[in-house]
Amino acid sequence: PRTAAVIPAAGRGVRLGRGAPKALRPLGGTPMLVHAVRAVARARTVSLVVVVAPPDGAAAVRTLLDEHPLPQAAGDTDVMVVTGGGTRQESVARGLAALPGDVDTVLVHDAARPLVPVETVEAVAAAVRAGAPAVVPALPVADTVKQIAPGTPAGEPEPVVATPERSLLRAVQTPQGFDRTVLAKAHADAPREGEGATDDAGMVERLGVPVVLVPGHEEAFKVTRPLDLVLAEAVLARRRV
Ligand code: CTP
Ligand code: MG
Repeated sequence: PRTAAVIPAAGRGVRLGRGAPKALRPLGGTPMLVHAVRAVARARTVSLVVVVAPPDGAAAVRTLLDEHPLPQAAGDTDVMVVTGGGTRQESVARGLAALPGDVDTVLVHDAARPLVPVETVEAVAAAVRAGAPAVVPALPVADTVKQIAPGTPAGEPEPVVATPERSLLRAVQTPQGFDRTVLAKAHADAPREGEGATDDAGMVERLGVPVVLVPGHEEAFKVTRPLDLVLAEAVLARRRV
């Protein structure tokens, strides 16, 4: 039995602004996707990485990965490239469909979280291997969160309907780790309309399977908006001193 990581990297990165697909944008001179692949491949338990490339970008991603070979610390981890779909959910489903039969544990990790420490990856994988069907790294939220009424037109003030108690809220990160069978069933059963699910664990929750949280890491933040790139560059620079 092996542990594999699926890395959805097929998004455009609309919120980051114009430019190349987000996963291919450089961070410290190296594409974000390469950082993400290295971060999961360094985990000792991960022996296969499946990168889910933009629908028209599989060849470019393969070239890029060949140009940036894995470090020694990654051992002999295999890297496969498949093409993604129009939503994150669809992209993850395509990555799962490409897994060989001997994989029993799957980590799903956003290419957009390039700086996750290997310790976080190992902790998630270890918790799944120890018997938890679904494991998610998470952090307490700093901001108080408001829930709003649905359907408010853009640009209008948004009516508040609730203020969930902040101490009971967590912001979730990746890699999220799963028993392979459980995650495959969650994807097979999930509706596919609209924007799709933005969180694999949420789909597993709908099956009634327990999901547990382990401590996340501040450096596992998602590069989403332009300011996140500034932070990511600063974190990388700090690591290099
Ligand atoms: N993703 C994917 N396929 C999609 C959409 C997203 O593989 N059709 C991946 C992204 O490449 C990213 C991860 O899912 O690694 C998290 O998504 P997000 O941060 O939302 O990235 P984008 O969808 O690219 O960004 P945006 O929503 O701003 O367009
Ligand atoms: Mg998105």
